[in-house]
Amino acid sequence: MTMTAPDTERELLSRVPTGLYIDGGWRQSASGRSFAVVDPSTGEALAQVADATPEDGEAALDAAHRAQKGWAKTPPRVRAEILRRAFELVTARVDEFALTMTLEMGKPLAESRGEVAYGAEFLRWFSEEAPRIAGRYSTAPDGANRLLVVKRPVGPCLFITPWNFPLAMATRKIAPAIAAGCTMVLKPAALTPLTALLLTQVFEEAGLPAGVLNVIPTTRAGAVTGPLIRDPRLRKLSFTGSTEVGRRLIADSAEQVLRVSMELGGNAPFIVFDDADIPAAVTGGILAKMRNGGEACVAANRFLVHESVAEEFTTAFVERMAAFTPARGTDPESTVGPLVDEATRNKVSSLVAEAIEDGATVAVGGQPVPGPGYFYQPTVLTGVPASARILNEEIFGPVAPITTFRTEAEAIELANATPFGLVCFAYTADLNRALRLAEELDTGMLGINAGVVSNPAAPFGGVKQSGLGREGGFEGIDEYLETRYVGIADPFASTEDA
Ligand code: SIN
Repeated sequence: MTMTAPDTERELLSRVPTGLYIDGGWRQSASGRSFAVVDPSTGEALAQVADATPEDGEAALDAAHRAQKGWAKTPPRVRAEILRRAFELVTARVDEFALTMTLEMGKPLAESRGEVAYGAEFLRWFSEEAPRIAGRYSTAPDGANRLLVVKRPVGPCLFITPWNFPLAMATRKIAPAIAAGCTMVLKPAALTPLTALLLTQVFEEAGLPAGVLNVIPTTRAGAVTGPLIRDPRLRKLSFTGSTEVGRRLIADSAEQVLRVSMELGGNAPFIVFDDADIPAAVTGGILAKMRNGGEACVAANRFLVHESVAEEFTTAFVERMAAFTPARGTDPESTVGPLVDEATRNKVSSLVAEAIEDGATVAVGGQPVPGPGYFYQPTVLTGVPASARILNEEIFGPVAPITTFRTEAEAIELANATPFGLVCFAYTADLNRALRLAEELDTGMLGINAGVVSNPAAPFGGVKQSGLGREGGFEGIDEYLETRYVGIADPFASTEDA
C-alpha cells in the first residue's frame, strides 16, 4: 500500500501561503503571532499560519470598503471572466487542492477531489450568472408613473466559513459576491485555513483587484469578527456553521441591521418506505451518511425505516458500513478519514454511549479507533428510543441510528419533529407519495431516491433553525444584491401639457 510520499506533502506545504491577505498583499499578523494547523489523522502540525488580530480585521475591512465603489462599477463581463479564470485554475490544480484539504481536514483524497470539482463549479456557475443580473421597467397600474427596478451590490461582506468543506463553502459565498460586485473579508475556519489561502492565491492569479477579497485566518474568531459586525461599513454577513453560533451572529448583526445568510445545523431524516428499492436505498443511505465521513450538515442523522423492510435494509446497510476502511486520507485504501479533532470525536463517542445507555443496540462499530488521529468506527445503532439525544442533535460523525415507523403519516410526523429543517431524504417508488412529502415535510431541501442533493445550480439552504437564505442556483446571487426602485414621472405628462 502506498501513501502520498512525505516529500510530496512537504513540497506542497512549503508552497501553500500562510500569511494574511489584505488589500492585495500577503502579510504577517500585526501581533507577529501564528498558529499551528494540525493533521487530524496524526495529530501532528502541518504548518504555521498567521493569526489575525482585531487590527488586522479592521485593515481587511478598510481595504474591502475602499475597493467597493470601483468594484461595483466593474463591468459584469470582467467579473465573470475573473471567476471563469479562477474556475480553470482551481480545476487545473485539483491535485494540490485535494492534498491540502486531505492533510488539514482528513477526508480521503478521492473525496477531496470530489470537493474540488464541487467547489470549482460554484466559480463557473456564478461566472455565468454575473452578466445576467437584471432589473425591470414597467408602467404603474394607473398609467401615471414608470417603475424602474435595479439590482445593486449589497456592499462589503464578511464570510465565516467552516472546516468540513474548506473549499466549497468558501467558493459558494465568494463566487456570488464577486459576480454581484461585492467586496469581502473571509475568515476561514482555524482548523482548515490552508485551502482558503490556496484559493486566495488562485484569485490573485486570476486578476481579482486588490481589496476585493481579504482573508484573515484567526484563532480569536469573536475578537476579530465582532468589531467588523458592529462596523457600519459592513453590509452583509454570511455564515456556515452551527445553529448555536449562527443564533449569536444573528443577534450581533441586529445592531447594524445587516443582511445575513445563515447555513446552520441539520437533523436530516432518511426515510425508507415499504415500496422502496432497498438496494438503492442502502446505497443512497451510505452516501447520505458517509459523504465527508458524516461531517456534513446535510448528513443523514437518523434513519426512519418502515418496519416491514427494516431487517432487509439494516442487514445490507450494516454490511456496507462494516466494509469502510478508516485510514489517513492519503492512503489509497482509505474510505473514511478521521474526525476533525478530539472534541468532535469525544462528542460522537458520548452520543453513542448515551444511546446505548438509553437502550440502543450496536449493530457494528461503536468505538473510537485506537492509535494516532481522531478516527471513529463507522457505526450503526438499532432500537434507538425517540427521546435519545443522538436522534435530536447533529451527530457530525459516521454513526447511523436506525428506528422504524408504520405509516406515512407517522414518518412525516417523526421527520418534522425537530427544530431543524435543512434536508430530508426519502426512498419510495410512489410518485404521489413523493409529491406529498415535498408538500408535507418542513425542509429546505428534499432528496427523492437520492442520497445527495447538493448542487451548485440548486438553491441550498434550510428552514426553521437550519438557517436563512439560499446559496447556489439562481437564488444564490440574490443574497448579494439589493433591490433599488426608481419612480419616474409619466414621460408623456409634459408632452400633453405642451
Ligand atoms: C455542509 O455540510 O455544510 C454543506 C454540505 C454540502 O454543501 O453538501
